[in-house]
Order: sequence, then structure tokens, then C-alpha cells
Amino acid sequence: MKTILCIGAGYVGGPTMAMIARKCPNHRVVVVDIDAARIKAWQSDRLPIYEPGLQELVQKSLNKNLFFSTDVAQGIREADIIFVSVNTPTKTFGQGAGRAADLQYWEKTAREIKANSTSDKIVVEKSTLPVRTAEAMERILHSGNKTVHFEVLSNPEFLAEGTAVKDLENPDRVLIGGHATESGRRAQAALAEVYAHWVPQDRILTTSVWSSELSKLAANAFLAQRISSINSLSALCERTEADVTEVARAIGMDARIGARFLNASVGFGGSCFKKDILNLVYLCQHYGLAEVAAYWEQVVTMNEYQEDRFVRNMIAAMFNTVAGKRIAVFGFAFKADTGDTRESPAIRVCRFLADERAAVVVTDPEALGNAKKDLADLGDKISYEPDPYKAAAGAHALAITTDWDEYKALDFRKIYTSMVKPAFIFDGRNCLNHQELFEIGFSVHPIGKVPLSHL
Ligand code: UDX
Ligand code: UDX
Repeated sequence: MKTILCIGAGYVGGPTMAMIARKCPNHRVVVVDIDAARIKAWQSDRLPIYEPGLQELVQKSLNKNLFFSTDVAQGIREADIIFVSVNTPTKTFGQGAGRAADLQYWEKTAREIKANSTSDKIVVEKSTLPVRTAEAMERILHSGNKTVHFEVLSNPEFLAEGTAVKDLENPDRVLIGGHATESGRRAQAALAEVYAHWVPQDRILTTSVWSSELSKLAANAFLAQRISSINSLSALCERTEADVTEVARAIGMDARIGARFLNASVGFGGSCFKKDILNLVYLCQHYGLAEVAAYWEQVVTMNEYQEDRFVRNMIAAMFNTVAGKRIAVFGFAFKADTGDTRESPAIRVCRFLADERAAVVVTDPEALGNAKKDLADLGDKISYEPDPYKAAAGAHALAITTDWDEYKALDFRKIYTSMVKPAFIFDGRNCLNHQELFEIGFSVHPIGKVPLSHL
């Protein structure tokens, strides 16, 4: 039996450890966090994050071989393997502000590990980190007293929110970066043993630490780049009467391109894409690779352009003014099946609309709490309504910003009747049946397609 500790009970740490505990009944898994309220929530039937299937997963192992605690020091003392999954937000101050990763929590955690360790440990970077962070961590861990040996591995997490449990259960690959030394290999093997409880051997990939760290940034940059690429074409489609869904389908059938991640949208959100690309950009600049940095930065620029373009299209269609008009924003989560709103395109959309003095009402089945926090500074310029029908009543337009399944099942006839005419729908996710809506009477403005307008 091994004792596995995870420091940081967030979106990454919590679900990952719940899966390890479930699949490895022979190991003891402890998750610690400095946030006592969060730890309490993990022990309750109202988890701090919303993920399909997670509550059941946690319940199966809770207090059997899965424990949540705020005692970081004790957790460290008892652990054989320590996952570090604290947050690494983009720096908001000083050198590299707005681009570089803020590593203060990571460094603090490394120092805590060092201070409380009395036996050898494997320290696993689970947080996404700039390339060569492991080196800095090793130096901190091995500074001063050298009686304890720390072996640092990089094991990035590729789970996507909303499908975390599925992704953890059946990962495309598990990446374990380690040093090419004997103790490095041994540590890689020890971590591989944990995953081998449920992941096929050929999907467990071992690489150098640096390749592993870079692969995580690269994977997110490539995924985001695909979305920005199709979104750039959506602007062209709107001008040329090409249909972006048809274009995506046609290019996606080329096996070399592949069909996934080609859905044009109001923009990508989430805690990772923007942060990781900006991190990559900062790294490239640091190494004097200005052209490489500019190439990746454009992926983020294109995303912001797409978010703004969505609102500019709304204003243009609604007779060049939205001032005083009620606009119902459908969906505030950055994607369906999550309450997470980090970097959600709805944030920028709402702010832009509020600047234009629209009367914005936000509805979302899971994310209204976060929405209120994100837009707190806008005060009563924004209102919040859990019921989509009530949100739509009296509105001039609906802006679909999250592709929640329940929005597809709404009674749009009823909604149409309750709205000011002409009634507009701006489908920022291309998730509704546009022809049907048009026949009901709506003027429909999808992304990357010719609008269906009654005007
Ligand atoms: C975070 C990063 O955002 C992501 O880039 C990285 O890959 C993994 O870690 P996430 O799990 O989504 O992802 O972060 P978050 O939900 O903010 O959780 C981090 C947790 O760490 C928080 O609960 C926070 O309280 C905790 N924490 C932070 C500590 O326990 N100790 C600290 O010193 C700092
Ligand atoms: C992403 C990566 O997929 C995951 O591997 C990594 O570990 C963390 O970052 P996540 O941010 O949870 O996961 O969500 P993802 O499903 O990748 O979606 C990101 C954003 O892109 C969402 O706003 C989504 O709506 C948008 N998106 C996705 C599109 O606009 N079009 C697409 O075709 C796909």
C-alpha cells in the first residue's frame, strides 16, 4: 500500500484523486487544501465543483481510502507520492504580468513539502507549469539539508471540464515525465503502477520532464488554435455565403485534420486555453523567439476578436443600438455541463453589452453564482434569472453563449410570444435548429452562416 497525497482540492486535484482512489483500493489517497470550506464541501453531498458522475465517484471511496483534510503538514509526512495541483494563474503584477504563470503557490508548496518531509518522496507536478519549472522545484526541495531524496515527475492532466470523470476513466494517454536517472526511472515506474490499475500499458507514455511539461502547453495551444482557425473562417463565411458547419465537416473528413474541435463559436473559454497559450508566448519571448511567440499570441487575439465580433453583429442587426433593450444572455458557463465561468466568452459579451447600455439579463442552470461574482462591479446593469422563460420575457434578443442541452429543448414558440418584436436570436454556439426558429418568426443569426432574417 502506498499513501498518495494531493495538495490542491480544485477542479484537477479533486476528480483525479477520486478516480485514483476508486481504481486503486490498495492505496490510501489524501487530498489537502488550505481552503477549509472547500475541504468540507468535498466531504458533503454538495461538492465544490459540478461534474457529471463525480458525486457518485467520490461517495464510493470517501472515508474508505479517500480522505479530505486541511492538515497539509501531516499529509506530507505520511505520503509516498505527492501530487501538486495548486493553481497557477496568470500573473497579474510585475514582470510578465498578463502572460507569465504566477508560481508563488507552487513555490510555497515546494517549501512546505521540504519542511515536513522525513522520508523520500516522489513529487508529481499535476498543475500546468512553464517548461523547466521542475528544475526550480528540485533546487528548492534539495536545498540545505539533504537527508531526504525528492524525485520530481511531470504528470500533466488532460481532462476537460464537464467530462472529467469520463476523461479520467478512459484517458487518451497518461504522460509521465521523469529524469533519465535510475531514481527517475524508478519513480516513473511507481507512478505508472498507479495508473496501470485501469489504463492500458500502451497509453502510459514516459518522456523526459521537459517534454512532458511542454506537451501539456502544446496540447492546449493546438486545441485552441483549431477553434481560432475555424472561428476566423466563420467571419469569412458570413461574408461569402459559405456555411462554416459545411466547411468544418468537409475539412474534418480529411483523416489528417480530424473532425473534432472544429465547432465555430462565440469563442473559447475555460481556465486553461488562454492561460497556457500566454504562458507559451511568454516562454518563447524569454528564449528570444519573437516570431514563434507572435504566432501563438494570434490564437488569443483571434478569440477576443470573435467575442467582440459576436456583439458587434448583434448591434448591427438590431438597428445599430441596443441601449435600453432587454437582452437575455443564455448561458454563462464557459461550456455546457459545468458551473465554471473562468474566461467564459459570456463575460466579455455581457460587459460589451452593458457598455452599450443594454439591459442584460443572464440565465444559466449552474453558473449564476459565479456570474454574479464575475460581473459584481457592474452592479444593477446586469440582472440574473434562473428561469430561461422569465429571462426571455420582454427581451428584444436572446444571445446563446453556452450550448446547454436544455436550451435545445425549450419551447421557443412560447418564448417568441413573450418577446418584443422583431425578436432576434444570436446563436453563439450554433446549437439550435435555425430553420425551425425562423419559421416561428425569429430573425436568426448563427455563427459563420447567412442569417435567416425576416427584415
Ligand atoms: C489548477 C490550475 O488552474 C491548472 O492550470 C493546473 O493545471 C492545475 O491546478 P484547478 O484545479 O482548476 O487547476 O485550480 P483550482 O480549482 O483553483 O484549485 C486549486 C486549489 O489549490 C484551490 O482549492 C486552492 O485553495 C488550493 N491551494 C492553492 C492550496 O491548497 N495551497 C496553496 O498554496 C494554493
Ligand atoms: C481543455 C482541454 O480540452 C483539456 O484537455 C485540458 O486539460 C484543459 O483545457 P476545458 O477547458 O475543460 O479543457 O474544455 P474544452 O472542452 O477543451 O473547451 C474549451 C473551450 O473551447 C470551451 O469554451 C468550448 O466551448 C470551446 N470549444 C470547444 C469551441 O468553441 N469549439 C470546439 O469545437 C470545441
